[in-house]
Amino acid sequence: VNSFTFQANSEADTERLGAALAELLPGGTTIALCGTLGAGKTRLVQALAVGLGIAREDVTSPTFILCRPYEGQRMLYHLDAYRLRDDDEFLELGPEEFFYSEGITVVEWGDRVASCLPTDYIKIQIEVTGDCTRIMKVLPVGDRYLSVVAVLSSRLREAASG
Ligand SMILES: Nc1ncnc2c1ncn2[C@@H]1O[C@H](COP(=O)(O)OP(=O)(O)O)[C@@H](O)[C@H]1O
Ligand SMILES: [Mg+2]
Repeated sequence: VNSFTFQANSEADTERLGAALAELLPGGTTIALCGTLGAGKTRLVQALAVGLGIAREDVTSPTFILCRPYEGQRMLYHLDAYRLRDDDEFLELGPEEFFYSEGITVVEWGDRVASCLPTDYIKIQIEVTGDCTRIMKVLPVGDRYLSVVAVLSSRLREAASG
């Protein structure tokens, strides 16, 4: 099995995941974030942003604008498919420009536009288990991120055990 689950017992744990993603993801990576409203998708993007040297407060849900670019050590493209009517509306945003850039692209509600995503991406499914606790399943889709996800998994486990 290539996926792993990360147990976040607090927002600090979510920040650790974001920091590890910022450190380990190669440029041109796309992440699909899945989970209900309030699951912590935007919070995880904030954590990733901080790891890229972007201020957390700058990152808010791209609800009406649909795509927000942030300039950090890499570009971070933050998209949200929640309000989109259909795939065409997503494709009108020109997502290829982000997917095939040297930046990191994160798509909230990525499962809603799954057929528009690149062949290879990382899916993170967030499940709410309590007020401050989340289970985050990290899954490489396609072959390209198999090793990155494996390294991420061991990095987070090392950190957890001290
Ligand atoms: N461990 C955690 N990880 C992420 N968010 C958490 C966690 N614990 C509590 N939260 C809270 O859950 C909420 C998640 O909201 P948000 O990130 O906007 O969700 P979404 O984008 O999935 O709709 C925030 O208020 C955040 O402070
Ligand atoms: Mg959100």
